[in-house]
Amino acid sequence: MSTTAGRAPEQSGEEGRRGAFSSRRVFILAAIGSAVGLGNIWRFPYVAYENGGGAFLLPYLVALLTAGIPFLLLDYAIGHRHRGSAPLSFARLRRGAEGLGWWQVAICFVIAVYYAAVLAWALRYTFFSLDQAWGSDPNAFFFGEFLQAGDVAVTADVVPGVLVPLAIVWLAVLVVMALGVQRGIGVVSLVFIPLLVLAFVVLVVQALLLDGAGFGLDALFRPDWGALTEASVWAAAFGQIFFSLSIGFGIMITYASYVGRREDMTGSGLVVGFSNSSFELLAGIGVFAALGFMAQSSGVAVDEVASGGIGLAFIAFPTIISEAPAGALLGVLFFGSLVIAGITSLISVIEVVISAVRDKFDTSRLTATLAVVVPTAVLSLVLFSTTSGIYVLDVVDHFVNQYGILVVALVSMLVVAWAVRALPRLSEHLNVHGRPRVGTGWRVLVSIVAPLALALVLVFGLLDDLEAPYEDYPTWLLLVFGWLMVVALPVVGFLLARVKWRAGTHLDGPPPGSDPVAPLRATAPAGGADVRPRPAAGQDEGGAR
Ligand code: PHE
Repeated sequence: MSTTAGRAPEQSGEEGRRGAFSSRRVFILAAIGSAVGLGNIWRFPYVAYENGGGAFLLPYLVALLTAGIPFLLLDYAIGHRHRGSAPLSFARLRRGAEGLGWWQVAICFVIAVYYAAVLAWALRYTFFSLDQAWGSDPNAFFFGEFLQAGDVAVTADVVPGVLVPLAIVWLAVLVVMALGVQRGIGVVSLVFIPLLVLAFVVLVVQALLLDGAGFGLDALFRPDWGALTEASVWAAAFGQIFFSLSIGFGIMITYASYVGRREDMTGSGLVVGFSNSSFELLAGIGVFAALGFMAQSSGVAVDEVASGGIGLAFIAFPTIISEAPAGALLGVLFFGSLVIAGITSLISVIEVVISAVRDKFDTSRLTATLAVVVPTAVLSLVLFSTTSGIYVLDVVDHFVNQYGILVVALVSMLVVAWAVRALPRLSEHLNVHGRPRVGTGWRVLVSIVAPLALALVLVFGLLDDLEAPYEDYPTWLLLVFGWLMVVALPVVGFLLARVKWRAGTHLDGPPPGSDPVAPLRATAPAGGADVRPRPAAGQDEGGAR
């Protein structure tokens, strides 16, 4: 038992040992840092464009309000109340649920392995922008000269142009993670999120000033109201929201566990949710303004140049940068933004793993960082600095998002709401200090609406994958890096849940002193019994009303 009677709960041994954000502001910036990632910049604009344009904003807003923010608050409540990494928080909710937490950890590990590779490309392209190193054919340059992608096969031919930036990304991650929750993640968020917003605003203004920007915006926002009757459009909206807010795979649970006990989590959730969507909208404007310019300068319609993901960032944007006035600036702003948005997301997924390892085993921050980052980095370098990197990356990305994140999010939601029946406790937790209050409406959204929406997204994705193999890749590639990988994740998760917790871990309910409706009792009995008294809510220390 690590809680020392008499000390303020904020400084109790366990809390001090785990690390904490120094303020709510730092937490909010870190959470925004995780949410704002590649998904905002290269995924949202294209998803919106493809699914009804301006009309898409309606399902998108509905998804944000009925599932995104409610689910975000659920993650916050779980982590903030149980004060642990994903596995520890789930174990404290219900012992048998620990495996869910490890499943989420396994997903984060996989994401980290490939997400870093995309960052490395963006880092390299930031410098390529200076002299437009891609020449006149960015497509041939990206796949040929840069990635040296050959046939679809797994090879061991190293590509130095990727290896070096990738090693730099991992080194940076190692340093940040070793510095800890506040001095590492907190400080990075405090510095880079404002910088990201600034860089991005300049980028958007520059894009809006390009000739033809209006055509791009028109293509993005022209509403196709008919799209609203299509279920696949609604599924796309919910899918985008779930991915973009980083919910349901351990990140928000972990970050919330580092927030002071008396902070308002509901208000924080609203700030994070709306900031993330605002950034997404801003990215849509910037990206489509630039695509409008590209269409006009090559004399074609916007739909011929519109794309998302890798194609947008590494093929369309280089073309735009080469043609635009002050293209080098545009390039540095665009790729620099990708790098910053990406690195703050990358550290959030790695923290899920480090935090879990630290909670489970008796290790220092440094040991846990080395134990997690070194193998992840090695795997990442082995898989993605070779000529086969791009294919493996594409498959892993598709499957881990579609059948990793979405499935674990759905299962954990159902378990928390229907098996553990924890929603009354969790809403009570949010309401002790948080405003606006959450009530029956929130519980209905989290237990019924959001799971149904997730199921819808999943079914649509599954139908697509069954209809035709993803991107027509060979079956063996899809089997090994797709299906086998996603099936292995929960298996690994439930195996890890069998490992013993380090001595003194309190597993039955929230750790002593952390119940917001009860101040820390003067003497907490040792040994894992649930020590929570159940006083009236008005007794809490913080003057909640
Ligand atoms: N919200 C992130 C994004 O938009 C999703 C993410 C988080 C992906 C963390 C990877 C790691 O890109």
